[in-house]
Amino acid sequence: MSDMISIRNLNKVYKTGSVEVHALKNVSLEIKHGEFIAIMGHSGSGKSTLMNILGCLDRPTSGEYLLEGIDIKDQSQDELSLIRNKKIGFVFQAFNLIPRINVLKNVELPMIYAKTKVSQRRKRAVELLEKVGLGERTEHLPNELSGGQKQRVAIARALANNPPIILADEPTGNLDTQSSEEIMEIFKELNREGSSVILVTHEPDIAEYADRVILFKDGCIIEDRQKEGALK
Ligand SMILES: Nc1ncnc2c1ncn2[C@@H]1O[C@H](COP(=O)(O)OP(=O)(O)O)[C@@H](O)[C@H]1O
Ligand SMILES: [Mg+2]
Repeated sequence: MSDMISIRNLNKVYKTGSVEVHALKNVSLEIKHGEFIAIMGHSGSGKSTLMNILGCLDRPTSGEYLLEGIDIKDQSQDELSLIRNKKIGFVFQAFNLIPRINVLKNVELPMIYAKTKVSQRRKRAVELLEKVGLGERTEHLPNELSGGQKQRVAIARALANNPPIILADEPTGNLDTQSSEEIMEIFKELNREGSSVILVTHEPDIAEYADRVILFKDGCIIEDRQKEGALK
C-alpha cells in the first residue's frame, strides 16, 4: 500500500495573548491507504489538533505534511478547500448537521460545493442514506432524529464525494453503547470497502475496532501499535 499521509516533525503552537500552548511536538507519522486507525490519549493531549491538521482545517506551525504526495504548505486556502472537499470526509462528536435543512439536503451539501448535477447528487444522497439505514428519514430535520441517527446522517454526508479518507473526532462521544456499536460497524464496513478511517476515541472498546492504535500524551506519540494479524 502507498503512503497516503506522511507527516514529519510536525509542531503546532497556539498563541493566545501571551500564553503559548505547544499542542503537537515533533510528531512524525506515516499512514497508508486502507488503514483503520484509532487515536487515543487524555483530554488536551493534541488529538483534535492533529485531526484538524490532517483534515486541512488548520496548518501546522512547523514541519511537513504530505497528503497523497501533495505538500500542504504550498497550497492556497482555495486549494485546501478543494482538497478537503474531494479527499476528506469529516465526522464530529457533535454531528455538526445544519438544523434548518432536512437530512437529504444535509447529505447533498458537499456535492453542491463539488458542483455535482442536481439529479445525480439527489440520487447519491438517497443511496448513502439507505446505506446507513436511514432511507425512510430523508425528509426529517436533524432534531427529529436520535443521536445515533444524526451520526449516521453525518457519516452519509462525509461519504458524499466518495473521499478516500474518513476522519472522525470522537464520533461516539455523545452516543449510548448500542448506537456507538452500530456506528463503529458502519466505519468497519467502510474500511472493508477500501476507505481509510482515522478516528479519535477515549474508549478502549471503540479502539478495538481499529487495526492500529496510536497513543498521544502531551503532544507526543508515546505508542503506535499495529494489532496482530491486522497488517494489510
Ligand atoms: N484554538 C486553540 N487555541 C488555543 N489553544 C488550543 C486551541 N485548541 C486546542 N488548544 C490547546 O491545545 C492542547 C491540545 O488540545 P486538543 O488538540 O484539543 O486536545 P485533545 O483533542 O487531545 O483533547 C490543549 O492544551 C488545548 O487547550
Ligand atoms: Mg479533542
